[in-house]
Amino acid sequence: MSTLKNVLATKIDEHRKRTTKLLVEHGDVKIGEVTIAQAIGGMRGVKGLVTDISYLDPLEGIRFRGLTIQEVMDALPKPPGKDYPYVEGFFHFLLTGEVPTQEQAEEIVEDMKKRSEVPQYVFDVLRAMPRDTHPMTMFSQAILAMQRESEFAKAYSEGRFNKYNSWEFMYEDALNLMAKLPIVGAYIYRMVYKDDNHIAPDLSLDLGGNFAHMMGIPAPYDEVARMYFILHSDHESGNVSAHTTHLVASALSDAYYSLSAGINGLAGPLHGLANQEVLAWIQNFMEKLGGEVPTEEQLKKAVWDTLNSGQVIPGYGHAVLRKTDPRYTSQREYCLKHLPDYPLFELVSKLYDVVPDILREHGKAKNPWPNVDAQSGVIQWYYGLKEYDFYTVLFGIGRALGVLANITWDRALGYPIERPKSVTTDMLEEYARKSEESKGETA
Ligand SMILES: CC(C)(COP(=O)(O)OP(=O)(O)OC[C@H]1O[C@@H](n2cnc3c(N)ncnc32)[C@H](O)[C@@H]1OP(=O)(O)O)[C@@H](O)C(=O)NCCC(=O)NCCS
Repeated sequence: MSTLKNVLATKIDEHRKRTTKLLVEHGDVKIGEVTIAQAIGGMRGVKGLVTDISYLDPLEGIRFRGLTIQEVMDALPKPPGKDYPYVEGFFHFLLTGEVPTQEQAEEIVEDMKKRSEVPQYVFDVLRAMPRDTHPMTMFSQAILAMQRESEFAKAYSEGRFNKYNSWEFMYEDALNLMAKLPIVGAYIYRMVYKDDNHIAPDLSLDLGGNFAHMMGIPAPYDEVARMYFILHSDHESGNVSAHTTHLVASALSDAYYSLSAGINGLAGPLHGLANQEVLAWIQNFMEKLGGEVPTEEQLKKAVWDTLNSGQVIPGYGHAVLRKTDPRYTSQREYCLKHLPDYPLFELVSKLYDVVPDILREHGKAKNPWPNVDAQSGVIQWYYGLKEYDFYTVLFGIGRALGVLANITWDRALGYPIERPKSVTTDMLEEYARKSEESKGETA
């Protein structure tokens, strides 16, 4: 058994006792109530999911396994001479909650290399699709096509599967998928945008380094890849991609079915697609100005025009966060170090100066601050990745780390099939009537 799998097995043994105790001894303790506004309004704030992989504090932002982004970047082992950690070591950290040693991280790097060969039929499926298909559709399709490789599905159909060992098959699928996704992503990119001219993987490199190599973008893009995948990995369980993956996996669908479904959710403009929309919005706007950098007044007008036409300002707002997203700040720090005078970065910074005040004045968005998507496209554009339809695929490779770690734990802890209860509008009206009546009685 690999070191990672051993560490994980020990953690799972310990954790099962905690979950069982909570269920058996305290199962009826209430952790919240649900209002009519929450039932109609996308279950915002309803506490109904459990994860230990990450936690999103509305004011502080994300912590991965208890560490802030900066702490993660500082603590985790890095490839020699690099500033950003091994993605593989970060996956160990997400799965186990333990910071791996350099040796442990490098062991996973080697393990993932052995799992990285993508079956030819996956490329054949991609090649059969019209080239103007959205890259996210291709990405999701490739993951689904690979489902025949699932160890989890095989173990289930061969009767080797039970409530205690099912996580081990999910773990195998998770590692196999994580090893292959960057290769699939780079293949889609080169097939669609680079005249079908591919670059063979370089197995001397780590996941981030090999991805940059296969994309054909020189250093320091390898650092960008590591940073980007880590930053986008997880945002607790309730966001659309994480929740969808968890929901589908709860039916004992394997990691391929589940991740493909989660990726489809990530493809929505209110979720992951926002990062391409931010750049489209900015480019569109600069084009109208004949390529000139806009003044503050022009910028304010453009923001208001967007709002007045009933559209959202992409890259701003969040369902949980009530402050600037630390994932935005982390990327901003990268820009300040590597591309401080880049006009597109200056424009994004200017937007940061005007948008929050306007959104406050507009009075709808509960959070006027930027989220992760407001900044990420600028970095990609700077390094020559200007095909912004592809940006959400990058997000998807990163997001896979978090959701695959989560569904491995879902199986380890034996979480059941998810099945919330729905009510009818008549019932809601009845609840409302009874509430009015009881207010009348106490008045
Ligand atoms: C992320 C997002 C979907 C969260 O939605 P939410 O939880 O419903 O947000 P709120 O509770 O603040 O929404 C209240 C109202 O403000 C509006 N609002 C929220 N963010 C807004 C934004 N960036 N621009 C304009 N209006 C916004 C909502 O559309 C909603 O309007 P409605 O009452 O007419 O339906 C939303 O902020 C958004 O659409 N942002 C832009 C897209 C984006 O950046 N997505 C990536 C998220 S990581």
